[in-house]
Amino acid sequence: MEMLIANKVTKNYKTGKNALKSFTLSVPAKGIFALIGRNGAGKTTLVRILATQLSLTSGSANIFGIDVTKDAARLRDIIASVPQDGNVVRWLTPRQFITSYLMWRGFTRKEANIRTEKSLKELKIEKYADVLSVHLSGGIRRKVLVCMVMATDAKIIFLDEPSTGLDPISREELWKVLIKLKKNHFIFLTTHYLEEAERLADKIGIIEDGKLMALGTMDELVKKIKYPYNIKILSDGIDRKPKLGVFIKGIDGHYQIMTTEKEAKRISKNLIDRGVKFSMNPLTLDDIFYYIVKKPIEVDNYENKEEHY
Ligand SMILES: Nc1ncnc2c1ncn2[C@@H]1O[C@H](COP(=O)(O)OP(=O)(O)OP(=O)(O)O)[C@@H](O)[C@H]1O
Ligand SMILES: [Mg+2]
Repeated sequence: MEMLIANKVTKNYKTGKNALKSFTLSVPAKGIFALIGRNGAGKTTLVRILATQLSLTSGSANIFGIDVTKDAARLRDIIASVPQDGNVVRWLTPRQFITSYLMWRGFTRKEANIRTEKSLKELKIEKYADVLSVHLSGGIRRKVLVCMVMATDAKIIFLDEPSTGLDPISREELWKVLIKLKKNHFIFLTTHYLEEAERLADKIGIIEDGKLMALGTMDELVKKIKYPYNIKILSDGIDRKPKLGVFIKGIDGHYQIMTTEKEAKRISKNLIDRGVKFSMNPLTLDDIFYYIVKKPIEVDNYENKEEHY
């Protein structure tokens, strides 16, 4: 099977920052792989190394068996990428910009025109096709970049936070396009929208401080969580802490308990008896992310503590 493999990849920037620390990953190079992680976790650094735009300090990586360092030129022919800070050429229209890019990649003018039209239509941005990019909004410019990589025949597409800055409707449209696109391309995606990763990705990786913390399908990630039951208490109905599990005080004043099935039964019965409003939901990627990375909100693990619910 065709794979993407990173083997003990480290990246030390000149500033002394160690952005990747023996990062190891092995995933099938098909469908969508989503890498999620907090700001500064190392996502862009990894994407740039895999897309042959940045050298690694040590370790090795290859996609479809093609080494990112030793065989970068060959890999570049089958890669297209939208960098996190990528921008369009402001004095070109989207149509000119995409067509020029395609011709630069080796397509004839005729083929480039056909591909540009198809891609503009697919992303529903034809009406901006002839507007100078300097006059376009930030979100439309990002769409133009995605449109550009879609128009290529690259087998591997890197999208570093493609939906940042898009409104909810445009984001949904982009998701539809990516679902279509993943049938014939391998898409390596980074995102801060965990719902996006959950809905689109065939496999998800969680990176924190330059290291891979978890990897799997959504179901596999759920199975890794010791406490798969998720109770949200909608009013201030907590009088004692849970006996077993993770207790999270949300920033909105709500409480969340992640716990075992047995404990969830006991807690929910207690809440019903006391007339406290609560909801019990399947774990979302947000919950899993917080559980694994444990930083965005206050998390206390009350396991084996004396106080019982
Ligand atoms: N060119 C650079 N020189 C020095 N340090 C850098 C450079 N680029 C990134 N870093 C540092 O490396 C670490 C990882 O950065 P990176 O951009 O890979 O994170 P990220 O996961 O993409 O974050 P974000 O979600 O904010 O885009 C950060 O601490 C960052 O400050
Ligand atoms: Mg980044």
